[in-house]
Amino acid sequence: MRVLSGIQSNGKLHLGNYLGAITQHIELQDANECFFFIANYHALTTIHDGNIVRGYAHDVALDYLALGLDPSKAALFRQTDVPEVTELTWILSTVTGKGLLDRATSYKDKTAKGLSASMGLFCYPILMAADILIYRSDIVPVGKDQTQHVEMAQDMAAYFNNTYNSDILKRPEVRLNDARVVPGVDGQKMSKSYGNTINLFDPPKPTRKRIMSIKTDSTPVDDPKDPDNCNVFALYRLLATPEETHDLAERYRAGGMGYGEAKGLLAEAVERTLGPARERRIELAADPDYVEDVLRTSSAKARTVAANVMEQVRDVCGLNVGKDTHR
Ligand code: ADP
Ligand code: TRP
Repeated sequence: MRVLSGIQSNGKLHLGNYLGAITQHIELQDANECFFFIANYHALTTIHDGNIVRGYAHDVALDYLALGLDPSKAALFRQTDVPEVTELTWILSTVTGKGLLDRATSYKDKTAKGLSASMGLFCYPILMAADILIYRSDIVPVGKDQTQHVEMAQDMAAYFNNTYNSDILKRPEVRLNDARVVPGVDGQKMSKSYGNTINLFDPPKPTRKRIMSIKTDSTPVDDPKDPDNCNVFALYRLLATPEETHDLAERYRAGGMGYGEAKGLLAEAVERTLGPARERRIELAADPDYVEDVLRTSSAKARTVAANVMEQVRDVCGLNVGKDTHR
């Protein structure tokens, strides 16, 4: 199966990205042909500072490698190293009704949070569809918030194929992790855009402080608590073993334990999960040439696939001279 996913380089990666998307990316690399890319064109919908955009893209590459992406198994590249995606974006936009994009919930959510209502933000799902379709991807592993975008990519593949009576673009399927929506410290979806993240690679002390700031209700220490209605527990169960999860749930229900203690256990679980990757990241950061080399090699592989699909797309659209497909 060909697996494809992207992650926006618009800030530091956080537990939501890791538990919602990256763990399944790493898991899939063993038995599939994987393409993972750093969505730096997408990042321009929120950041307009060249140095920051460049820096975040490099940081995401470091994060993936530190978390276990193996470049001998999976391709890891920058979106911009395959510029053909912007060409396919345009072509898809000519067969896609505006009404489809009007229904995109992420545009509404983001503008409601104060993000600038640019055309780039509005057309973001078309660029994402191009990302997916240009590699003829079978599976797109993402967090739940991206499901609608993958469904739009399915729609756009069908619009294109029907318009040109072709089967060039392939219908992709979404793949979700168990961690559907990871809550942030305020209980809303954890997101770089919402300032509520627990970052993957902040040092242990600020991470602990951040965990201590997670919003909880005001149930007194002695009273029983509902684990299923607690942001701390929601995060803990995604990191702990089933036994640990069961034990903590029992302690919630029994009463006598304050949220501070649960937060301490969560901080330990986070450190246990991410501590070794933090060490690897420090080593990788000392070798930027290695990271750039991985990105270069992977992008050449990805670009070969994309260029081939684009040739077929251009042919049926009449953009290649002297290749009449209709007569
Ligand atoms: P952000 O919202 O922080 O900008 P992205 O939109 O770049 O994150 O998401 C990158 C990947 O991580 C996507 O597949 C997305 O579904 C997943 N993801 C992001 N936040 C969460 C979350 N809170 N819970 C589950 N998955 C998430
Ligand atoms: N929109 C995705 C996000 O914010 C990132 C992304 C861009 C993506 N293109 C993609 C994800 C293609 C999967 C497939 O997380």
